[in-house]
Amino acid sequence: MTHPEFVPPMFSNEIVSGKVSWQSPSNIALVKYWGKKEHQIPANPSISFTLDNCRSITSLEFQKKEDKSDSFEFDFYFEDKPKVDFKPKIQKFFERIQQYCPYLNDYRFTIRSENSFPHSSGIASSASGMSALALCIMDLERQLDPGMSEEHFQRKASFLARLGSGSASRSIQGDLMIWGKHNDVESSSDLFAVKYEDELHENFQNFQDTILLVDKGEKQVSSTVGHDLMHGHPFAEERFLQAHRNLSKLLPVLKSGDYSEFIKIVESEALTLHAMMMSSQPYFILMKPNTLEIINRIWKFRKDTGIPACFTLDAGANVHLLYPENHASKVLEFIKNELVAYCENGHYICDQVGNGAKKL
Ligand code: PMV
Repeated sequence: MTHPEFVPPMFSNEIVSGKVSWQSPSNIALVKYWGKKEHQIPANPSISFTLDNCRSITSLEFQKKEDKSDSFEFDFYFEDKPKVDFKPKIQKFFERIQQYCPYLNDYRFTIRSENSFPHSSGIASSASGMSALALCIMDLERQLDPGMSEEHFQRKASFLARLGSGSASRSIQGDLMIWGKHNDVESSSDLFAVKYEDELHENFQNFQDTILLVDKGEKQVSSTVGHDLMHGHPFAEERFLQAHRNLSKLLPVLKSGDYSEFIKIVESEALTLHAMMMSSQPYFILMKPNTLEIINRIWKFRKDTGIPACFTLDAGANVHLLYPENHASKVLEFIKNELVAYCENGHYICDQVGNGAKKL
């Protein structure tokens, strides 16, 4: 299926060579995307906080080929070193977006990427990396088509990023992004993520996310495998409906600033994601004993202090501790005193909600 709104017009400009660079952040979902249909269409809508410090920095150098060929020609460097094992992923990405970016065959590319977060931190870089690459490609397209509107640029960048990695569609803008059609968000779409445009209560502005690195190794189960396990999963249909309901509940909470409702939805979403993995065939436990230690300590801390700190998880053992900025010093003290002991080599990353990608 082709989406004509993303097929570019005949270009007026001729560009021979150049270089563009973008930085793009990671994001953390509050209502989770888990399960997809063909062509990277999500099985349910999701919403995420865009992060700030955890990001990828990617540059794209392009040189027009002498003769146009049907193949994609590119080199990929990660942290200044050639990284051949990443090339098939980019090749696949180019194949998926080719009908929307037919000019990709006209150029030879050199792609260089690096992450602001440590290489082996157990933090997936697909959201930041794929969105940064999609933005570089859109930057080239905008040079070829200078009349392009800013809205189209953002939307198509998210559309392309989605075809690289679903959650990458939510990394383009901030501070909150919604991806997947939902009845309460008129502009929402399965094809790209849109910015949360409603009022955001001050309680959630500059929200903090400290990522407690319980396991810095490679993910035990790739998200591709994880999404696939939702096909034929006995609880899948109910889970997809629940995500719709949870987003319906969360939207008014973001406006009202109701911490206790926020916590109920966000923590339940995280545990449900893991419950889906535990109840699939084959089944997986992605949490580690230290993940549970941390969760229990967060619950106790919240009960003892009344500070509205809560956790969420992605599809791994690391814990994202979410809390309001005005409680940062108390929470950081708690992390140092009680949680660091459960992090691999005592490592954690302090991040917060950010505003999205930037051209460099
Ligand atoms: O973008 P993917 O295919 O790597 O999926 C990521 C899914 C989760 O991170 C587990 C949840 C989400 O909504 O980001």
